[in-house]
Amino acid sequence: MTPLIAGNWKMNGLLASARTLAETIAAKVAGATRAIPEVALCPPAALVHAVGQVIEQQAKGGQTVALGAQDCHPKEKGAHTGDTSAWLLKDMGCRYVIVGHSERRADHGETDATVQSKAAAAHAAGLIPIVCVGETEAERDRGETEAVIARQVAGSLPAAATAANTVIAYEPVWAIGTGRTPTVPEIAAVHTQIRALFAQRHGAADGLRILYGGSVKGSNAAEVLAAKGVNGALVGGASLDPVDFWRIIEACPMSPGGAP
Ligand code: 13P
Repeated sequence: MTPLIAGNWKMNGLLASARTLAETIAAKVAGATRAIPEVALCPPAALVHAVGQVIEQQAKGGQTVALGAQDCHPKEKGAHTGDTSAWLLKDMGCRYVIVGHSERRADHGETDATVQSKAAAAHAAGLIPIVCVGETEAERDRGETEAVIARQVAGSLPAAATAANTVIAYEPVWAIGTGRTPTVPEIAAVHTQIRALFAQRHGAADGLRILYGGSVKGSNAAEVLAAKGVNGALVGGASLDPVDFWRIIEACPMSPGGAP
């Protein structure tokens, strides 16, 4: 399985800065002199098309960057002001769409059922959903991490999810944008749990990519990405800095981590 490093730009960037950032990353990826993970960029919806064009222009024979988005609507089309369909994202060249990010669960009241319907739309449109799960700090403190993850994984994944058509991202809410990360054994424990849950409901999970997200930076990437069961990262803040994002890409082991 090829690991995946995905940059979630969140609500950052304007047209010019997005183009420059995408150009820089795409050129580095195309010029890589050794095997590197798959790299995806997930700009804000209004910048997806422009970033897709930059990626296309930069694809000169080397490895190309994949395009992703940060959300989609469950429906194909219709009267849903301000929303973006998975089909439009596919049409604009996306391969991935993040669904169920904790910021959307919190800011837009998205439930597991909403997330599941968005992931199903992504599948129907031919996209790979990156389905996010993760506990809050209060839930972790109460010892509820395992229960929360079990509930979110069961509720957020469509029945048709397979290791090939779906990516899961474990993003502890308290680690997002805080500079704090779980310990390597804590990350490994949740990834092992997610893989087991997936195997129970969806069959073979060996090839399933489970990303870790939450304060991944160049300085901690090697440690976090070597944790057992981690197959890449979903990166927020550090993905806006091409130098730090590249450090993360370079730090990613090409085979799954073996640390306990
Ligand atoms: P940070 O890397 O900024 O902590 O954000 C993580 C995240 O939410 C990625 O989706």
